[in-house]
Amino acid sequence: MTEDFDVKLVEHAKYYRPAAEYKNNSWIGDYKKAYDRFQKDPELFWSGIAKDLEWIRPWDTVLDWNYPYAKWFVNAKLNITANCLDRHVKSDRRNKAALIWRGEDGAERVYTYQQLLTEVMRFANGLKKLGVQKGDRVCIYMPMIPEQVIAMLACARIGAVHSVVFAGFGMTALNMRITDAEAKIVITSDISIRRGKAIPLITIVQEAIDNAPSVEHVIIHRRRKDQPVTIRADFELDFYGIMEDVPAICEPEVMDAEDPLFILYTSGSTGTPKGVLHTCAGYMVGTYYTSKYVFDLKERDIYWCTADPGWITGHSYIVYGPLAVGATVFLSELTPDYPDAGIWWKLIEEQRINVFYTAPTAIRTFMKLGEVWPNKYDLSSLRVIGSVGEPLNPEAFEWYYKVIGKDRCPIVDTWWQTETGMQMITTMIGEPMRPGFAGKAIPGVEVDVVDKDGTSVRPGTGGFLVVKKPWPAMLRTVYKNDERYRKYWETIKGCYAAGDLAVKGKDGNIMVIGRADDIIIVAGHNIGTAEVESALVSHHAVAESAVIGKPDTLKGNLIKAFVILRVGNTPSDKLTSDLIYHVRVTLGPIAVPHEIEYVDKLPKTRSGKIMRRVLKAKELGIDPGDISTLDE
Ligand code: PRX
Repeated sequence: MTEDFDVKLVEHAKYYRPAAEYKNNSWIGDYKKAYDRFQKDPELFWSGIAKDLEWIRPWDTVLDWNYPYAKWFVNAKLNITANCLDRHVKSDRRNKAALIWRGEDGAERVYTYQQLLTEVMRFANGLKKLGVQKGDRVCIYMPMIPEQVIAMLACARIGAVHSVVFAGFGMTALNMRITDAEAKIVITSDISIRRGKAIPLITIVQEAIDNAPSVEHVIIHRRRKDQPVTIRADFELDFYGIMEDVPAICEPEVMDAEDPLFILYTSGSTGTPKGVLHTCAGYMVGTYYTSKYVFDLKERDIYWCTADPGWITGHSYIVYGPLAVGATVFLSELTPDYPDAGIWWKLIEEQRINVFYTAPTAIRTFMKLGEVWPNKYDLSSLRVIGSVGEPLNPEAFEWYYKVIGKDRCPIVDTWWQTETGMQMITTMIGEPMRPGFAGKAIPGVEVDVVDKDGTSVRPGTGGFLVVKKPWPAMLRTVYKNDERYRKYWETIKGCYAAGDLAVKGKDGNIMVIGRADDIIIVAGHNIGTAEVESALVSHHAVAESAVIGKPDTLKGNLIKAFVILRVGNTPSDKLTSDLIYHVRVTLGPIAVPHEIEYVDKLPKTRSGKIMRRVLKAKELGIDPGDISTLDE
């Protein structure tokens, strides 16, 4: 974050008041009282929540805060899977559905809590048989199928650190993540299925492990029974094969509160992704608490989060949080538009979904397609609807509220990040909602909007979004890059700098505007400009490139790349498609530029740093701001 920022808020949005039935419906009760309770004694607040869960050994101290390093639930011992699975199996929830999965071809699988535990224990024992031990890193590169969830929980069961890589990432992106984490095992599927097409994952894995000496085995889940694929017979194992001839019981590994639970890579301002590290106890408590209190999840609810478990949203709000609460999680690999634009609403009707959590980009896509699709189906089972990943603009809020929520369901627009691990800002159910504003800090969390010196901005103006106190699910470090971790807490004095720009309303509600750094949020996914630039430069025809985000009404932003060619190359449509294909293979379809412009020069500072801000201003026809550092 280098640039000054000043936005004045036009306070015009009206409030939406929750329907009478929601006034006393939340677990947390009155927001203000809960927030006061937290502020009076934050440690007492969090320990009160942690006491709902099962611990092998209780903590000595709730928080040990040695700026910028936090330890939560010091010396406690636990296993998160004992809370997500065994705790329910011991209770009346044993035979209740934990996971209901729907495949593209209409296939449905239901796992009760007992069945899910049985599968997890068998797979965990299979991993153990291969020599996987506590602390070893395991990379999971799979589509949205129950086996992806089973693999994650099996790692957590034995204390192996999972690093889930979204199956839409390309070969180089996957290789980087495997090598940085030094993963011993890669778990994958032969194919993923999207819009009726089989996309081979195995070929991507095959190339990605070529220069990854840490990898000892690849475990393949085979969906395609007719055409078995082989990588290397001595190297590969079958997903269900490793579950044979193993004991049925796998006791949960005793984990220290601060033992790593997982690494999840997220794009940063440099060309290499950051391995955000989360630990066991704080993450468990934070995701349990927010799943239950933000969504107001009840025992009888069926809950659907449309994210992929490969993103943080899926980690926290498909897998760990809702299972810790004991909810029924619906998981589906169906995209919103296949076989038609009614499929998600049809699923809500069929499954009688009560709590639905999706992204603004999906909501805006549906808005474009019209009310006719959702209006074909009975959505009356919905009780709470949520949004995450990017700002939910007032128009999208109003459409979501009216057409999906039928002027009745509260919308929880949740602001948070891979780094925060849990939801941080929202409008808690029962509070008045203001379109365009995510809301206020969740009880347990303290946030503010500040200037670059860390001084709180006046209400009605903008600045940088920060978190002012440690919170249980916060990242503990960036894997093998602690300096990068410290930067989060050193950029703005005394607080965690989220990297987002925000405006503070006069009523204390926060409107998140977008990133303050070189990260572009495309359809809710973080893409580092530097990652796309280095992918482009790795093509033989490219000398230099600069990438910016251009606002888009559907996806939030689109990627535009400016490219300087090496001598001997000339711009052509063929070259443009080659470059696009190159980025697709290297990073994956989510990072592909929408537009490529060939240029002779790029605006740079005297020290040679590309000024993307200047390119963006020119592109959008706006004032570039201070250009005194621009090299003539
Ligand atoms: O810019 C913010 C945006 O997404 C970023 C975090 O991305 P990621 O780590 O991939 O996690 C996404 C899912 C939690 C944030 O820095 N963002 C996320 N939620 C919102 C949002 N922007 C505005 N409103 C939100 N509700």
